Amino acid sequence: MKTPAINLETEQQLFFHNYSRLPLDVGYGKGSFLYTTDGQRYLDMIAGIGVNAIGYGDQRLRQAISEQAEKYIHISNLFMQKPQFNLAAKLLEISGFSKVFFCNSGTEAIEAAIKLSRRFAVRNGDATKTQVLSLTNCFHGRTYGALSLTAKPKYVGGFEPLVPETGMIDFNDVEDLERKVSSHTAAVFVEIVQGEGGIHKVSEAFVARLKELAKEHDFLIVADEIQAGCGRTGTFFSYMPYDIQPDLVCAAKPLGGGLPLGAIIGTEKVAEVFTPGSHGTTFGGNPVACAAGLAMIEAIYTDGLMQNALETGAMIRAALEKMAEKHAQILEIRQYGLMIGVTVHREAKYYVEEAMKRNVLVNATSNNVIRLLPPLSISREEAQLCLDTLDEIFSEESDPKA
Ligand SMILES: Cc1ncc(COP(=O)(O)O)c(C=O)c1O
Repeated sequence: MKTPAINLETEQQLFFHNYSRLPLDVGYGKGSFLYTTDGQRYLDMIAGIGVNAIGYGDQRLRQAISEQAEKYIHISNLFMQKPQFNLAAKLLEISGFSKVFFCNSGTEAIEAAIKLSRRFAVRNGDATKTQVLSLTNCFHGRTYGALSLTAKPKYVGGFEPLVPETGMIDFNDVEDLERKVSSHTAAVFVEIVQGEGGIHKVSEAFVARLKELAKEHDFLIVADEIQAGCGRTGTFFSYMPYDIQPDLVCAAKPLGGGLPLGAIIGTEKVAEVFTPGSHGTTFGGNPVACAAGLAMIEAIYTDGLMQNALETGAMIRAALEKMAEKHAQILEIRQYGLMIGVTVHREAKYYVEEAMKRNVLVNATSNNVIRLLPPLSISREEAQLCLDTLDEIFSEESDPKA
């Protein structure tokens, strides 16, 4: 069979239709740019949906991958594996936690954390402690447990019934938090900065009360750092500036340097829950992905990319705020490091398409939010290119009230 050309028509023929793909045939990436096979260059402000933290084609990352691939690509968790040890040690050093469990993706990390929360309660002698809660407007993943904690009807619709004893607390509503949690609560899952939900940050008051109630009712706090973590908001995990110590952290996206990797990172208190055989995965903690993840984390520190996230993020915010003064289409700007959401007056899809026509790739989320998740290595000049493009689109918008 002849290899089909890559275009939206073949996509329609070959795949389930659960993605709206960009009509680009990407040849390769370099730094913050993607290059298509027809020679076009695109500034990538999506970065593989927040995965490619150090941009494309980094030599250190490629070397780590090829060196480990030379040794072995997969041997399974029946073996101890040096790349897993090295990455786990790094994550524990950064976070101050005690133990790591590696899986393959964000949703698997959430799944593991849900299972762990329930088993933690049972092992502590309270089998009635089964309720697992999250916050409205959140996103935790697509598998059944994670989906049951996910807010958007678009993702959940038609898949019911969901996992029992799951529920939601109104975002940043301290009174609702007080109403919903009880001695039956096993865990509360929280994204400190909601990503898919449109870049919304949990308030300090909410976090403070959550911490008090977790102590009172003895439930676990699980921080979903899958999108906001690994340096994107300017600290390695986004909960770090808060006065809180979660019991578990879920990480993924950039963790494997572009290869599939997820993790839960936990305290001593919860570490004993997973006894041999109680949870597992064939591929989780793949050694090539772990080697890549370590190279990526080391590059984040060596290159000062968290500082860059803070500084370039602040520069983008300031420019967007200026832009909002002249373009009424911009309704709100939310920026935490290089996690940026711009609420606009119409479907953000319009701006995604217009930006792509001008060789800049941005993403839409929550219907009317333009989401920017560039590589943490983005330069100010590259950020300026994106800003100039958005400015041009807002200026040229034929009917800004459409
Ligand atoms: C906050 C958050 N949690 C969980 C997930 C699910 O991760 P994955 O797509 O790797 O399963 C995502 C993915 O976007 C996410 O942003």
